[in-house]
Amino acid sequence: MAINLSQVNFSYEPVKKRKTNHFVLKDIDLKIEGKDEFIAIVGHTGSGKSTLAQILNALLVCNSGVVDIFGKVVSRKKKVKLKNIRQQIGLVFQFPEYQLFEETILKDVMFGPKNFKMANREELAKKALETVGISPDMFEESPFALSGGQMRRVAIAGILASNPNVLIFDEPTVGLDPLGKKELLDLLKKLNEEEHKSIIIITHDMEVVSSACKRVIVLDQGIKVFDGEKDELFKNDELIKAHSLDYPNSIKILKEIKEKLNIDINIYQYTIEDAFLELKRVLGDSHE
Ligand SMILES: Nc1ncnc2c1ncn2[C@@H]1O[C@H](COP(=O)(O)OP(=O)(O)O)[C@@H](O)[C@H]1O
Ligand SMILES: [Mg+2]
Repeated sequence: MAINLSQVNFSYEPVKKRKTNHFVLKDIDLKIEGKDEFIAIVGHTGSGKSTLAQILNALLVCNSGVVDIFGKVVSRKKKVKLKNIRQQIGLVFQFPEYQLFEETILKDVMFGPKNFKMANREELAKKALETVGISPDMFEESPFALSGGQMRRVAIAGILASNPNVLIFDEPTVGLDPLGKKELLDLLKKLNEEEHKSIIIITHDMEVVSSACKRVIVLDQGIKVFDGEKDELFKNDELIKAHSLDYPNSIKILKEIKEKLNIDINIYQYTIEDAFLELKRVLGDSHE
């Protein structure tokens, strides 16, 4: 197990004994594998998603409970090598393009591997840039001359270059146009399917959850209220309602069709292609 959280509590304020402490994460138990996972963390603004992301790569340390990352226990008392953890669990912040700072694209992407004292830093940076679709003739250009979508991809390459096993993305599709969003999701799917990285995405966008993720974690006021397969989540109408979540478009549309046409159809389809196949199956049947 790569990440193992047990009864984790976290507060931004100093925790005082015998006082009502304001924990923004409460009794979180969570296990995440070091490969092949594709997890969405959803929940309202302020539910603790970004805080959890920072616990997962040891930028924040919990007040109580156990955070075990690749066999190292992160604690306030005992010093562990955090650099090691941060190399293995890459965190891409919201609007990561704001963190670009070097004068060339290549130098910017090499910053991580250099910081982690990795030997083949230039090679790693070039490979990461290639993975995100930035061509070699652009490597010596300024990152600030790029388009928004390209800047975000360069920033992601900066995390990828250190070759982490687990990648966490905080709201990665916010502010991107539809094409930029599709390109980014395709990139994350490629990293997951071809390089077997575990991907964790914090998102409000149910289309992202629907088309890319396998497992979903729902946070509500710092409490983990659901952790399971996305199909299990979307089939649980009560849970969706209780935490004011939304359904993906494919399910909404198929639900309408099912009710209006009164046909027996499996509405739990997560891509346009699957929705189309299911409609074809049912309508084809009824025409026979
Ligand atoms: N740096 C901080 N200092 C104090 N409180 C914070 C800080 N960051 C977030 N919070 C508070 O912690 C809670 C959880 O925030 P956050 O993890 O950012 O939620 P989310 O990402 O789900 O919107 C919120 O009540 C927020 O106001
Ligand atoms: Mg957030």
